[in-house]
Amino acid sequence: MKKKLENRREFLKKVCPTIAFAFFGLSFLEACSTGDDSDNDNSGGNDQNGGSDNNDNNNNNPLGFSSSGSIFTIDLTHPNFSNLSSVGGWMNGYSIGLSMLFLRISSDHIQAYTNVCPHQGTQNQWSLQSGNIFRCANHNYSFDSTCETSSSLPCYSTNIDGDNLIVAT
Ligand code: FES
Repeated sequence: MKKKLENRREFLKKVCPTIAFAFFGLSFLEACSTGDDSDNDNSGGNDQNGGSDNNDNNNNNPLGFSSSGSIFTIDLTHPNFSNLSSVGGWMNGYSIGLSMLFLRISSDHIQAYTNVCPHQGTQNQWSLQSGNIFRCANHNYSFDSTCETSSSLPCYSTNIDGDNLIVAT
């Protein structure tokens, strides 16, 4: 019995991790550990909230944004946000899983809004009309973009920090 266990251990040492994984699946990878792996992960990691909250550069951020709690960091150099490069440019984040509308209102300010229509919650039928009026095509209600009137879409606080737009929701 003991001999059988040793044979199994030797086998796993020889084939780990690739072949063992192929044969036995993920649970067997733990059996490959010798206990002296000093380079095992978990060092220096930031807090995680679902795997999308690393504000560091690019490849960890395939959609061009990340979040940490209620703070969103938008990479303005990412192609998903190219519409915001010039004043008057706007976009709906709906297609990339971001529940926000954006409108660049000046060279140094991009306003962010909820994209949840105050009427009945539609998120994906927005257009920007002349006078910077957002209209939801579901029932054709219009909303002011100034963040200052009772008919404004609810707005979020924003700040441009280098290439990033920081949004506090
Ligand atoms: S849900 Fe937007 S106008 Fe009705």
